[in-house]
This record gives sequence, structure tokens and C-alpha cells, in this order.
Amino acid sequence: MLGQQLDRAMALEEWEEYWHKDKIGFHQPTVHKMLENHLDKVLSGRAVVRFFFPLCGKAVDMKWLADLGHSVVGVEISEKAIQQFFEENNMMYSEELVPVIPGGKVFKNSEKNISLYRCDLFDFSSSVGGHFGAIWDRGSLVAINPKDREKYAALMVSLMDRDCRYLLDTFLYNPDVYSGPPFFVPDEQIHSLFGSSCNVEMLQSVDALTERWQACGLDSFTENVHLITPKGS
Ligand SMILES: C[S@@+](CC[C@H](N)C(=O)[O-])C[C@H]1O[C@@H](n2cnc3c(N)ncnc32)[C@H](O)[C@@H]1O
Repeated sequence: MLGQQLDRAMALEEWEEYWHKDKIGFHQPTVHKMLENHLDKVLSGRAVVRFFFPLCGKAVDMKWLADLGHSVVGVEISEKAIQQFFEENNMMYSEELVPVIPGGKVFKNSEKNISLYRCDLFDFSSSVGGHFGAIWDRGSLVAINPKDREKYAALMVSLMDRDCRYLLDTFLYNPDVYSGPPFFVPDEQIHSLFGSSCNVEMLQSVDALTERWQACGLDSFTENVHLITPKGS
């Protein structure tokens, strides 16, 4: 199903290298359309929600949500990305070590209630960061190595509060033509990863073929958004 991508493995150092060389084509300067489109469904009437951003980069969505009064926790391996996030958004930040994570640090802006952990996502857990009322997963499940998906899904489920609403953005394309990242995530796999403990609902599917993907040899590229909620919530 995943073709050649099943064996693709990117080291954390490769991501840090992308940041050092400013090869961050994944970064968007504006709030993500899918988050804007589906924010009401994610909030589901709640006024203040604790959001988790796995693999957060310097996504401007974090500032947007914080300006709306929500709190934000992100995890990112690149210290440069985290520093750029605060600096580019004119926010002061403090920095402290996280003793339970070897080499881990947390960067915080208390006024806006944003905390960004510099560590490997797989070293983060609910005992470090607590539980969350929402997860915005853009450029995260699609960026981790395909062999780590079960471990990743178990981590996400362990971070969800009972009323958590998890918005997941993924892509469908021919993985034999382009090797990723972003990696291809078939819809059936979303159900097999989360379906035993969560309800999985497709919210939107759009044709996202652009010149960038055509230049990679692709003739179709679909962006899908799913809402994942704990069963019985
Ligand atoms: C495709 S980018 C997406 C960033 C962000 N979500 C956005 O929408 O702009 C993936 C990010 O995850 C970081 N990353 C990759 N693997 C990681 C890991 N195992 N733990 C923490 N960060 C990781 C990379 O440095 C990169 O900034």
C-alpha cells in the first residue's frame, strides 16, 4: 500500500539541517485554510481550548489560536524554528530545561500561553505536557517516518482528553512516483490507526494538485481532512 515509502527513514538531523539551510518550503506565512474552515467543529462550542501541535515548526496557526484566547503546546526538534516563531511574531520568551527529557528544553510565552518543547516528539508524553482538548496535525503524521505511524497514533491517543477533537490533514498521491515527505497516508490507514479507540470522520477532500507536485511527476494530489474524537465522548 505504501510502496517504496514504507522504508523511507529521515533522521532528526536531516530536519535540523533543513532549518539551518532555510529549506522550509512546508512553512506557510498565513493561517492554514483547513484549520480556518473547520475551527468551529474543533471547538464544538468550547470558548477556551488547550491545543497540541505535534511537529509544530513555526506555524503561524499557533499565534492565531493564541490570539483567539486558546493555549498552545507544540513539539519541535529544531531550536532555530522555535526561536524564529517567537521572534517573527514579536513575542518575548523564556527558556528552561525539561529534566525528564534528555537534552529537552521548553520555550514559553506566558502572556499568550504558548509553550514549545524542543525535543523528539517520541520523548514527549502526557506526563510532560498533560492532556489536550484539541490537536491540529498539519505536516506531522505526513512527516514522521511511515514505520513509526502506530507508535505515533498511540502517542496522540494518549495525549487526548475525553473531549479532545483532533483535526488531521493528510495527502493522497502515487507513492511510487514521489518518495516524500510529505508521505502518502491512505484513508484506510487512518481508520486502522485510530479506529479502535476513536471515531474517524472525513470532513473535507480537495484537489490540491499544484505546479510544485506536478514538477515531482504527480498527476494527482488530494488533501484530506479528518476529525478524530474519542469513542464515547
Ligand atoms: C513538515 S514540517 C511541518 C511543520 C508545521 N507543522 C507546519 O505546518 O509548518 C515537520 C516539522 O517537524 C519537525 N520534526 C520532524 N521530526 C520530528 C520529531 N521526531 N520530533 C520533533 N520534531 C520533528 C521538523 O523539524 C519540521 O519542522
